[in-house]
Amino acid sequence: MRIVHIVGARPNFMKIAPIMRAFERTGEAEQALVHTGQHYDEELSRYFFEDLGLPRPDVDLGVGSGSHGLQTGRVMIALEPVLARDRPDWVFTVGDVNSTVAAALVAAKLGIRVAHVEAGLRSGDWTMPEEINRVVTDRLSDALFTTEASADANLAREGVPTERIHFVGNVMIDTLEQHRERASTLNVAERMGLDAGSYLLVTLHRPSNVDDPDRLAALLLALGEIVAGTGHPVLMPLHPRTSVRIRELESKELLEPLTILPSLRYLEFLSLMQDAAGMITDSGGIQEETTVLGVPCITVRRSTERPVTLTHGTNRLYAGDPYGLLDAVREALIEEVPVARPPLWDGHAAERIAAITLE
Ligand code: UD1
Repeated sequence: MRIVHIVGARPNFMKIAPIMRAFERTGEAEQALVHTGQHYDEELSRYFFEDLGLPRPDVDLGVGSGSHGLQTGRVMIALEPVLARDRPDWVFTVGDVNSTVAAALVAAKLGIRVAHVEAGLRSGDWTMPEEINRVVTDRLSDALFTTEASADANLAREGVPTERIHFVGNVMIDTLEQHRERASTLNVAERMGLDAGSYLLVTLHRPSNVDDPDRLAALLLALGEIVAGTGHPVLMPLHPRTSVRIRELESKELLEPLTILPSLRYLEFLSLMQDAAGMITDSGGIQEETTVLGVPCITVRRSTERPVTLTHGTNRLYAGDPYGLLDAVREALIEEVPVARPPLWDGHAAERIAAITLE
């Protein structure tokens, strides 16, 4: 069986690594890796390949940044001749980024079977570009691998035949389980002079939080109030998009109470996340990782496509005004958090994917 895997953006790398490894272990698949180049900075791309032990991509499409149409179109234009020449049995596409949907479109039109890993998640929020990517990718997929029961229900409601849907668990958690021990030996917090459990970790990069200067300024102000109000330092590694937006604000005093860091490598970030008192984020994957690590997580969004992190995990949504964030953090920090595991988040999702595909 010949498989071409597509990756493009940071969260894709953690998902594809265990899948490639699982197929490799079977010895029954010939695999190739295509990097679209959606993310190209070392901090967002190359270091992740190194940390996760991913093979060097067989093809790098080098599409880079741009508007959604431009970026998706560029991936399609560059990927089509690669897949047309290669004609694999399957194209594996993961997550919900622009590269994910572009790959599904190209493969489906060439009559190549599409496998979507992390299928069926729905926020119901059509203002999120990822929601559009998720729905379209799922519609084009022949095998839909899901992480939680809500995803199966969403797909069934949308009329996807049940024989295409496979509840396998979470490959992001496979990667977490594989690396958490190594990450904990890094002691990143300690090296910064911080005790475990003494600080809060923050990541914000969604357009809905960082693209509007007033909203971004209000969030930064709220984070400063959290430092003053809780006594916990706030560590904030910056995604390049957030970095640019903060620079555009030109109000340095908002950053003074915060410990601003560059984008971190996978293992460094995992080390900081494991030892954090709490997490404030708008990421998708971090809601899942904190659930397994038992770290309280506040997700600054109106909705989540990962409701199992609310019902089984440590996640809670915060959709109010930024000034109310301090109270939400206080509440999250005093509440007992269950260290629960959503069903099948056991570190073996990729093995199930390989077994089902080869069947
Ligand atoms: C993308 C995904 C988002 C995911 C995020 C993780 C889509 C629609 N969004 O968002 O779901 O959570 O990745 O990081 O696919 N840039 C760099 N260096 C890079 C890549 C980007 O500086 O290597 C800057 C560019 O200015 C670019 C901006 O970041 O315009 C946004 O990058 P883009 O890939 O369009 O989306 P993300 O915000 O990273």
